[in-house]
Amino acid sequence: MTDEGSATGVLRDEHQRILMVMRVLGRLLDAGERQGAWDLDAIGDCVMFFRLFADACHHGKEEDLLFPELEARGIPREGGPIGVMLYEHQMGRGFVRAMRDNLGPARGGDMGALTRLAEAGRQFIDLLTQHIHKEDHILFNMADHVIDGTACMGLCRKYDEVCGREFEGNTKAALEEIAARLRAKCPD
Ligand SMILES: [Fe+2]
Repeated sequence: MTDEGSATGVLRDEHQRILMVMRVLGRLLDAGERQGAWDLDAIGDCVMFFRLFADACHHGKEEDLLFPELEARGIPREGGPIGVMLYEHQMGRGFVRAMRDNLGPARGGDMGALTRLAEAGRQFIDLLTQHIHKEDHILFNMADHVIDGTACMGLCRKYDEVCGREFEGNTKAALEEIAARLRAKCPD
């Protein structure tokens, strides 16, 4: 679903791009683990994309805009899907941090760091694939049900504001370009 006029359209589109880069990362890890062909530059680009696009740009909009709007409309934060999503965002940040922390030592030939980097990458892919599935099929359907009309338009305007920012000097378009290059390098 790519209806950008809904409360979740932009977020659903971003999910597809995040899933695509996770598939790329999976293939990069496969090549490293099975053939010893570690493309740490490309893996580094994936990590940068997850940090700036998936977390700062995408999770930022969910946490600062969509989730508070849902809470205001009676969907509880604690003991409900929003609390679970927030917890999973935190877990995801931990895996991305672990990938980033181990990337430098791995470049220097530290085999333990390479193993930890790959483990964190696999855990991130597992976590976020399931997480996105839950958002797309449960929480976002609830959101589309409770947010419509002017509230929906207001939310979309605020999404545009966030999407127009720079993330450590990178526009959203530049991050999407990184994703496109990664995909061209490691096609399905
Ligand atoms: Fe999301």
